Amino acid sequence: MSEFVNEPILELRRAPHREALLEGMRAFTEQAIFRVPVWIGDGERHGEEIVSTDPGDPERVIATAASASADEAAEAVATATRGFARWSATPAEKRAEILIRAAAWMRERRGELAALEVRECAKPWGEADADVCEAIDFLEYYARGAVALGRGKAIFQVPGERNELRYAPRGVVAVVAPWNFPIAIPCGMVAAGLATGNAVVLKPAEQSPACGHAVVRALRESGVPADALALLPGEGEAGAALVAHPDVHTIAFTGSGPVGLSILETAAKPGRRHLKRVVAEMGGKNCVLVDSDADLDDAVPAIVQSAFLYAGQKCSAASRVLVHEAIADAFLERVAGAVEVLQVGQAETFGIDVPPVIERDAQERVQRYRELARAGGRIAAEQLEGVPGHGWFVPPTVAADLPADSPILHEEIFGPLLAVERVKNLDAAMDRVDELPFALTGGLFCRNPHTVERVVRHSPVGNLYVNRSITGAMVGRQPFGGNRLSGTGTKAGGPDYLLHFVEPHVVSENTVRHGLVI
Ligand SMILES: NC(=O)c1ccc[n+]([C@@H]2O[C@H](COP(=O)([O-])OP(=O)(O)OC[C@H]3O[C@@H](n4cnc5c(N)ncnc54)[C@H](O)[C@@H]3O)[C@@H](O)[C@H]2O)c1
Repeated sequence: MSEFVNEPILELRRAPHREALLEGMRAFTEQAIFRVPVWIGDGERHGEEIVSTDPGDPERVIATAASASADEAAEAVATATRGFARWSATPAEKRAEILIRAAAWMRERRGELAALEVRECAKPWGEADADVCEAIDFLEYYARGAVALGRGKAIFQVPGERNELRYAPRGVVAVVAPWNFPIAIPCGMVAAGLATGNAVVLKPAEQSPACGHAVVRALRESGVPADALALLPGEGEAGAALVAHPDVHTIAFTGSGPVGLSILETAAKPGRRHLKRVVAEMGGKNCVLVDSDADLDDAVPAIVQSAFLYAGQKCSAASRVLVHEAIADAFLERVAGAVEVLQVGQAETFGIDVPPVIERDAQERVQRYRELARAGGRIAAEQLEGVPGHGWFVPPTVAADLPADSPILHEEIFGPLLAVERVKNLDAAMDRVDELPFALTGGLFCRNPHTVERVVRHSPVGNLYVNRSITGAMVGRQPFGGNRLSGTGTKAGGPDYLLHFVEPHVVSENTVRHGLVI
């Protein structure tokens, strides 16, 4: 097997690359509305209980989906339990081949899959293409990782004894996914479960059932047996029924903090003959520290990009900047200038920066925070120009001069709203970061290597970025995931991730033979 390399993202400044994506959109548009079934084994139940629409044009229906009942969740787990017997006995190399075929399946349909994300989740082209690349990366990376893990790990040997450490799949993995990386995140969690020999049941987000369906199609059409991978579209109740099932062994969840915490509580109740394990990646309040010696030519575009691309709806997005008072005015002035030229528009338009948010509830939530900022502090910049009147758009906004207890400084907003606060020095900034219950991503702009080292040592976050944007983690290069209330610290796309999907077995054999058995 060749060495892992990241799938190169398309350079959208090149006309042929843009044309390839538009071709994908044409192919996509020829399809009627996607129909997403509850898909268990070879059985498909269609329905229209869930309607997924284009956030930029909410009258445009992208997909209709059945919504899985608690009985269907139980049926999916029973089928996966049967499927586990055969899939877990399939050699790791064979499973890896299938995952790598699924990566090729996605590569061939790259434009169409990106177009689906543009429509179903309003991901702008560049972000949508990067998401498909990340899904391909997860498949390729975990396929290789599982083959290596299948060989076990070296442990200490002494004469007369043979010691072996190997890893066995755990059983049924329930994957509960969000909508904001609608193909990459479900694909990553599903691929990790399957690569290590588990059977998987995927519950995609209700906002992106068609993207979840694409993940399951890729894997099934590449050779994953029907009983080893099920699709359960549905709302939160379907996820809750799935994670509570006593025959689920591992739960891989990515989503909001409150839902993650409820899943951890549910999973504390033992399964039929096992303890459930939870891999949870949750929300954050991501802070960027800007020291007095920061190069603002670097810091301003990187922070604006981190806060506003995909309308601030990345779990890693910057939402709070703590800037040294010596440069705070200059920084704010330049950030305001950069925000006022952001292009707000439909995800399908090349060159836009800020698309709509995912749904009406999200739009209303971010608007409430904007009003709070206006009332309790100051709007330092907002881009109102070109904001379409139709669709779930929110103007990108920078808030300043907020009181220390403002919810805007403490809660995850998950939208295009950035708070800027001035601090006396970097120690004061680090103290404020340390007060937060979240620790997902963070950033630092500073030119003194000693200061960088000091912040690195004190930072609680899972992913700290220095003198660069704080989004865009790459599989294999920036293993991703948070600490504290932001997650269980399991690091998707990293060398240790697969260990959460297996259990270790140690065998110790006495090799000093006492005569022959006859
Ligand atoms: N740390 C990370 O890697 C990461 C990555 C992406 C998103 N996120 C976080 O995800 C959130 C946005 O995604 P979202 O709005 O889809 O999150 P969400 O928590 O609302 O939903 C996530 C999934 O959980 C399901 N769900 C809802 N209630 C449930 C319940 N009681 N039991 C089981 N499942 C349930 C949903 O149907 C969906 O499939 C943000 O907080 C963001 O920070 C984190």
